[in-house]
Amino acid sequence: MTLSIQPANPSRPAFFGEVSGIDLRQPVPRDAVAAIEAGMDRFAVLVFHDQRIDDEQQLAFTRNFGPLEMATGDIRQTDRRLSIAVNDISNVDRDSKVLARDDRARLFGLGNMLWHSDSSFKPTPAKYSLLSARVLPSSPGGNTEFADMRAAWDALDDETRSLVQDLVCEHSQIYSRGVLGFTDFTEEERLKWAPVLQRLVRRHPVTGRRSLYLSAHAGTIVGWPVPEARALLRDLVEHATQREFVHAHSWRQFDLVMWDNRVMMHRGRRYNIAEVRDLHRTTVADVAPTLEQAA
Ligand SMILES: [Fe+2]
Repeated sequence: MTLSIQPANPSRPAFFGEVSGIDLRQPVPRDAVAAIEAGMDRFAVLVFHDQRIDDEQQLAFTRNFGPLEMATGDIRQTDRRLSIAVNDISNVDRDSKVLARDDRARLFGLGNMLWHSDSSFKPTPAKYSLLSARVLPSSPGGNTEFADMRAAWDALDDETRSLVQDLVCEHSQIYSRGVLGFTDFTEEERLKWAPVLQRLVRRHPVTGRRSLYLSAHAGTIVGWPVPEARALLRDLVEHATQREFVHAHSWRQFDLVMWDNRVMMHRGRRYNIAEVRDLHRTTVADVAPTLEQAA
């Protein structure tokens, strides 16, 4: 098998690559890891088809790219179905039964349908996310959409660039869930997910490209009145998610999709909630809070 990384669809935005010639059930040689990292820097989203991996194999592959981030942002902390190293992106309980419509974990998880960057609510946010489709509904729906924040930055006018260049936002899951009217947090969760600061504009450490660091978790801008901050953030998200910057991934069972949260936003789309949908996410932590990284 020879590792190959090609544009997934040449007619669509150029950030989505397709990887072939690799079996993620086996240890990945160092040169292949380097090639995948280079592919991530070039594309920012990579899909690996037909990877029938379990959690241990997914974790082993993920560790090639840096320290694992734990699933401490998940509302399901006790009585978990999966290890704390794996984010449970499913609609099922421990007995693999579909969650009730009003289940708290399900309602919390609906926040994934808003454009976001994973773990931007953590002091050191996520670098890469790796999402493995284990069970998919038979009916259509449930795409994951990706939006390229580098292209969004490139397309900003000079005036907006200088306005946002040095801004710092507060990110929290309390904000993002609040957008959907989910306010059912315990005091412990409110403390654990208190707002953290993130730059609004980032620079990729390898390519040097600038990008907007937007996320549904961003609830205000430091030093700005909240309504004005939210109006600007909403404007920027609208700009950054124009169709020309977006690619919708239609899942096949055993796809593994890996993306760079530093330069991409994503969102999940609606699906038939009566059917089981079970995806497992592992996450690589970034090196430091964005404020400690070069702008
Ligand atoms: Fe996500």
